[in-house]
Amino acid sequence: MRLLVCGGAGFIGSTFARLRLIEHGDEVTVLDKLTYAGREENLHDLHDHPRFRFMRGAIEDPAAVSAALEARAPQAIVNFAAETHVDRSIADPDAFVCTHAFGTYVLLEAARTHELRFLQVSTDEVYGSIEAGTFTEQSPLRPSSPYSATKAGADLLVQSYFHTYELPATICRGSNNYGPYQYPEKLIPLMILNALRGDRLPIYGDGMQVRNWIHSTDFARAIGQVLERGLPGEVYNAGGPDEQENIAVVQRIIELTGADEAQIEHVEDRPGHDRRYSLSSDKVRALGWEPRVRFADGLEQTVRWYRENAWWWEPIRSGAYREYYERQYGRSLG
Ligand code: NAD
Ligand code: TYD
Repeated sequence: MRLLVCGGAGFIGSTFARLRLIEHGDEVTVLDKLTYAGREENLHDLHDHPRFRFMRGAIEDPAAVSAALEARAPQAIVNFAAETHVDRSIADPDAFVCTHAFGTYVLLEAARTHELRFLQVSTDEVYGSIEAGTFTEQSPLRPSSPYSATKAGADLLVQSYFHTYELPATICRGSNNYGPYQYPEKLIPLMILNALRGDRLPIYGDGMQVRNWIHSTDFARAIGQVLERGLPGEVYNAGGPDEQENIAVVQRIIELTGADEAQIEHVEDRPGHDRRYSLSSDKVRALGWEPRVRFADGLEQTVRWYRENAWWWEPIRSGAYREYYERQYGRSLG
């Protein structure tokens, strides 16, 4: 397949680009704005591949999208491009509205004009928080943060293009991802790097919030399965095999890194913090997908990856991330 992968320089998009290029023999063009979270380093091993092409551009810019479509005439657009951090969406929602609402609209128009398949990468956070039980694709959308609300808006726009214009569009909603190349603002890489560097481990509130963790390679495979086998107009949830309380994840990271429990610091809770996410993946399992990476193994591998790839994270930790960290946590990184 010839794919246009928007947001392919980010954490999951680069994992997906690598998987499709190397294991499936696809032709992959990445279109990415290179925000603070997007990095060409995430694609370092793909740049010289003959079936790979990187183009810098924003999805809300119709000229950039047209240029990417003309370059290689893809058959499908897979949209990962997004602002992805809940805390940043609380501090400043502007870019979230622009990228998720207007950006998705520009891509949908391009897919409609060029008669392309469209896959929107979405999140379990559009369903909101669930104290007991599990969300299915039929669960109502009750997003809590500007991040999840704008992602839900994008999902509804995608569904409207299916209903109104018969655009062959699917949506794949993932649970919390972890793995290599994840920007260290997110829980797992933040805790790994702070643990390794002797910094405090800031836990929001009581740390009893539950997340359903999926390895990024498992989510990338689920997206591929939905792209190949999903029915137009349908939504597919892809959740990981394990649910964990945040505090348990941090304690395991302390064991794996040899850090000290005394580094844990309970800090002020996130406003509107979702207590628990839980996702049923029966529908995507029926397409032949299942998660392969158990959380215990995936976390160990991820800790190892961050230990061995300081070349990747050191420039982040010494750059603009430091200022973000000080604003968010009211203290400096060591
Ligand atoms: P990320 O922040 O690592 O990457 C996002 C990428 O999108 C970056 O490369 C960034 O430069 C690019 N981008 C942002 N705005 C853009 C724009 N306007 N035009 C073009 N490119 C733009 O995020 P991620 O964790 O890889 O998430 C990818 C997708 O998966 C998102 O849509 C996110 O909502 C979804 N998702 C993420 C998770 C998770 O746990 N990380 C879980 C479920 C779903
Ligand atoms: P995060 O990685 O931001 O993902 P999301 O909010 O999309 O689930 O956070 C995962 C969980 O970890 C969430 O319950 C918030 C919590 N958390 C902390 O306790 N401390 C932190 O410093 C961060 C970044 C997150």
